[in-house]
Amino acid sequence: MFLVGLVGIQFFPTSRNQSDTIVKTDFMLVNDVPKQVENIITTSCYDCHSNNTDYPWYNKVQPVAWFLEDHVAHGKEELNFNEWADYSSRRKNSKLKSIISQIEDGEMPLWSYTLIHREAELSKDEKKIVLEWISKLKDSL
Ligand code: HEC
Repeated sequence: MFLVGLVGIQFFPTSRNQSDTIVKTDFMLVNDVPKQVENIITTSCYDCHSNNTDYPWYNKVQPVAWFLEDHVAHGKEELNFNEWADYSSRRKNSKLKSIISQIEDGEMPLWSYTLIHREAELSKDEKKIVLEWISKLKDSL
């Protein structure tokens, strides 16, 4: 019965968070982001905090897909790197502060996500690199 159910739910599609357009307001385009920092943030954060989710095969399998869809919808609402340039200075400042505390506290990326997306997990060094650069950016605003 469980198997039948698992097969059955594959027919309920999820909406795709995907877009081909390179957004002019993207965080990486409007800031002079070092390649290393860019790689870390795109790998660990962009699936949920941008208009483009990279969907490996297991994310097309239910119920994983529903679960991710929910995170993407919520994550984007709170912070969308693609819309960075449209944020007010005040909002940028508060988001950068929040990014720092989320990473410091190990809240982001969500553990339920890194459970399957091992490559998104931040090592100690990666955390340090990102935190240092984000703090510098915040001070320069
Ligand atoms: C699996 C999806 C997912 C990934 C990956 C992810 N986030 Fe999030 N993020 C969320 C969701 C959902 C929320 C809102 C609910 C919550 O706080 O749990 C959120 C909230 C946030 C907030 C709070 C925004 C605010 O207004 O205070 C920040 C900052 C944030 N994420 C930064 C990051 C950073 C930086 C990364 C990468 C290191 C990251 N997130 C990776 C899903 C994700």
